[in-house]
Amino acid sequence: MKLELLLLIQKISLYKQTFNIPNFLIGILEDLKNSSYKPYFVGGCVRDFLLNKEIKDFDIEVFGLNSLEELRTILEKHTKVIEVGKTFGVLKIEENGIECDFSIPRVEKKVGKTHKSFEVKLFSDLSIKKAAKRRDFTINAIYYDYFKNSFIDPFLGLKDLKKRKIRYIDKKSFVEDSLRVFRAIGFASRFNFKITKKTKHLLKDIVKSDELDNLSRERVFEELKKLFLKSKKPSIGLKLLDELKIFKISFFGKYRAINRLSKILENREFEEKRALVLFFTILLRGEKEDEVLEFLSKISCDKKFLSSINSLLKESLEDDYISLKKQSLRVVLEDLILIELAFKNKNLSSIIKKCEEFDILNRALKPHIMGVDLLELGFSPSCDFRNMLNFALDLQIRENISKEEIKSSILKNFVK
Ligand code: CTP
Repeated sequence: MKLELLLLIQKISLYKQTFNIPNFLIGILEDLKNSSYKPYFVGGCVRDFLLNKEIKDFDIEVFGLNSLEELRTILEKHTKVIEVGKTFGVLKIEENGIECDFSIPRVEKKVGKTHKSFEVKLFSDLSIKKAAKRRDFTINAIYYDYFKNSFIDPFLGLKDLKKRKIRYIDKKSFVEDSLRVFRAIGFASRFNFKITKKTKHLLKDIVKSDELDNLSRERVFEELKKLFLKSKKPSIGLKLLDELKIFKISFFGKYRAINRLSKILENREFEEKRALVLFFTILLRGEKEDEVLEFLSKISCDKKFLSSINSLLKESLEDDYISLKKQSLRVVLEDLILIELAFKNKNLSSIIKKCEEFDILNRALKPHIMGVDLLELGFSPSCDFRNMLNFALDLQIRENISKEEIKSSILKNFVK
């Protein structure tokens, strides 16, 4: 073996932990090996293992196959094979919520504008270095050989991991997928890594070329989502988005609030979508309406998600019972409170107390009077029901009175 290659192969014993592979994968790997194929782990799973981060999904590139069908035959002996990414030479399996993408070494060439317009050539005998050339960053092109318990590192990604650097691999293939601009920023933010000078130049060139306009909202959203939910300090990513002028809106002035929200949510069970609504609301607060609309149109078309952000943007908290009760009918007050906490608004304790008193922190004010109460009072269903219920709710909001008092008031006002 050449000295150069020997140097590239590093023993896993250098690292404290072992690469934990789900049991269901071991049989598949053995089967591939017994058929003289060579499977390697590569991409985010190897990178995250080396960074001591939790691994969610596995990418396995299998060398020595003549077709995707050979791969499918072996995988199908073990589990159901999902057909996504077939044109790219990728077969997916999923067990216990863990996704595994199996791919064949390939070379890609962009032939159109969307991320699917690639001419893909699959190779059975490509070298690892040639196969790795289509990947984005050196830290994402480290291969792990399960059977030899060793790494193969064709572009010195291990060194970059150590030095905390984001470095592109190959200029020509890199620029073919402009999403990599967001990926570079996301990794820099999530891992607190620096983007190398040359890589930053390349990212700027991609931004200037307007190629980002061809990215789908879904892909951009996924990257921003990871930036917010997986970074300890999302401000690192926001600064880069500003520096590279990715969006018209500048996020300067929101860095601290965003980091604070990250910290506030760090140890809480918080639904992902809800957290993202809060992050985007902070980003967009105080910005011009047309710029907010333009920004949102670039990241999502999920109506419910967008309307949650727009609703929160319209509200501000006031420390009085009436407006809080009314507001609880429009938005979740805890969301507004968390946003204010992120902006370090100190006068929240009395507001929180009021919300708790009326049980409106996380839900809309519960009306004292419902249709059944009106029936019980002797009214028969009619168009007036709506008026009576509105009257009752209005009274409940304005006056701090009991259900019985509201009932008497209804009788007084609606019995002719
Ligand atoms: N990849 C790439 N260019 C892309 C997307 C992916 O080169 N635009 C390659 C990289 O080698 C990457 C691997 O495919 O590591 C797997 O991609 P993916 O699962 O999308 O991302 P991860 O690197 O696993 O990162 P994340 O933690 O953000 O999912």
